[in-house]
Amino acid sequence: MARLKSHGAMKTPVFVIFIAGLFIALAGLFSCLNRATADNQDSAGAQKAFTEAAEVLFHPRCQNCHPAGDAPTIRDDSQPHMFNVKRGPEGKGAGAMNCALCHGEANKPGGAPGVANWHMPPENMPMVFQGRTPGELCRQLKDPKMNGGKTGELIVEHISKDPLVGWAWNPGEGRTTPKMSHTDFSAKMNEWVKKGASCPE
Ligand code: HEC
Ligand code: HEC
Repeated sequence: MARLKSHGAMKTPVFVIFIAGLFIALAGLFSCLNRATADNQDSAGAQKAFTEAAEVLFHPRCQNCHPAGDAPTIRDDSQPHMFNVKRGPEGKGAGAMNCALCHGEANKPGGAPGVANWHMPPENMPMVFQGRTPGELCRQLKDPKMNGGKTGELIVEHISKDPLVGWAWNPGEGRTTPKMSHTDFSAKMNEWVKKGASCPE
């Protein structure tokens, strides 16, 4: 009995040392992880990247499909779309005034511009750019409830690959294009996400 007891007493300090060692190792691991995330967070850099990219987001080629009201707008002064065209529940028009009636898969010289699947965001997720400040638009783009459930990475993918976005740099004769190239714009939005997606005020 006595031998057994002393054997048990010997075990306790070993166990305590083992647990203490485990805590130290975990604390070290956590501080490393913390430092790694801190490296990826560059609020000032993210805000600068977004502010520069905003010049494109607020360009009339983008804004006209991301208007504040329930109808697309046209031209550089974002005037009302003629023929009383409306957004409609799916962003594809209301009643007979379907976008596809006039907008095809390519720009029509002197007529309606076009690219595959021409439409605007739907009624339940209107993704308004027009009239927002850069900070407001930034917070909206990050909010999955307002951006169609997208992560930062998916927003960047949409921006670099979606034909509707690409159209803004190939809008047909007589329409201006954003000053920043599509490649530079995608890179800026990627930089914004990679640096932690912080938003300007
Ligand atoms: C012809 C209309 C049209 C044009 C032009 C257009 N968009 Fe969009 N955009 C849409 C639609 C529709 C959606 C909704 C996503 C979907 O269902 O494909 C969308 C979604 C988005 C989204 C993702 C949603 C969000 O709020 O995060 C971003 C970002 C975006 N557009 C940026 C742009 C930018 C930048 C331009 C101009 C360079 C542009 N769009 C031009 C129709 C358009
Ligand atoms: C009856 C024909 C017709 C219908 C229907 C129509 N459009 Fe248009 N749309 C046009 C024409 C024509 C233009 C060119 C106007 C111009 O540049 O003077 C145009 C221009 C636009 C532009 C302007 C591009 C720019 O930046 O200047 C947008 C955006 C647009 N339409 C979106 C839509 C959407 C979204 C729908 C469906 C909800 C739609 N249109 C339905 C004929 C139509």
